[in-house]
Amino acid sequence: METVATISAVRERVQAWRRAGARVVFVPTMGNLHAGHVSLIETARRYGERFVSSIFVNPMQFGPNEDFAHYPRTPHEDERMLADAGCDLMFMPDVAEIYPHGSERAARVEVPGLSRILEGEFRPGHMEGVSTVVAKLFHIVEPDVAVFGEKDFQQLTVIRRMVTELCMRVEIVGAPTLRDTDGLALSSRNQYLTAAERKLAPVIFRTLTAAAARVRSGDADFASIERFGFQELERAGLRPDYFSVRRAEDLATPSADARALVILTAARLGKARLIDNVQVARPGD
Ligand code: PAF
Repeated sequence: METVATISAVRERVQAWRRAGARVVFVPTMGNLHAGHVSLIETARRYGERFVSSIFVNPMQFGPNEDFAHYPRTPHEDERMLADAGCDLMFMPDVAEIYPHGSERAARVEVPGLSRILEGEFRPGHMEGVSTVVAKLFHIVEPDVAVFGEKDFQQLTVIRRMVTELCMRVEIVGAPTLRDTDGLALSSRNQYLTAAERKLAPVIFRTLTAAAARVRSGDADFASIERFGFQELERAGLRPDYFSVRRAEDLATPSADARALVILTAARLGKARLIDNVQVARPGD
């Protein structure tokens, strides 16, 4: 695997592969890789012949009081993990390469409706930061396919919509969430948890699973399911931001006849803010 830091080096490698007829698959990340990221590369391998991953902690998607400065950075381990996973090119730019005029003055890409709900309500500007950097990375790498984890379900939905709206040529693939044996979704932010908090954290997936079981059994009182989930998390000692039942396709509030749903939550536990979701199909008539 080769590691490069400039846009021109990425373009040169990718163009050569494309001339040779290879399909290029891209996995953007913020580094501090874990098994969940490796599984994204494994998914990527089903869609092409050449694999690019980026490691870039994107300042634009962090709020002023968030963990940008402290976000874990482990470039050497990341490089080893990507090489072992069969990645061909690791793109690790510095901030000035991506935001030559600073991230505050950068041109922006936004998907207004989808960006401002759920995460957007609690992390203003976050989704705009994600769509902007992903659009930039797509212009740099020009992949045929890009893989994103379903753990960040709203992010995946925003990116799919951005790609459709802006007529981008890339195919977006969602990869299932990887979980620890007790159900906790793998995330770089799990390392902010103390040992006691780590023991508590699987309540998030247990509560989502219980809520999904209610939906699956035909319960269409989504407001009551949302209250149940929120209160369960509070009772366990977490501080939930939201626990919400939405239409999987576009994250709209579901009507009683909606079939494909997703239940999403974000909750704070100690220093960590954890997000998770489960998709659920409602029974047909
Ligand atoms: O999911 C992430 O790691 C980031 O939000 C992404 C997509 C790499 C954009 O910075």
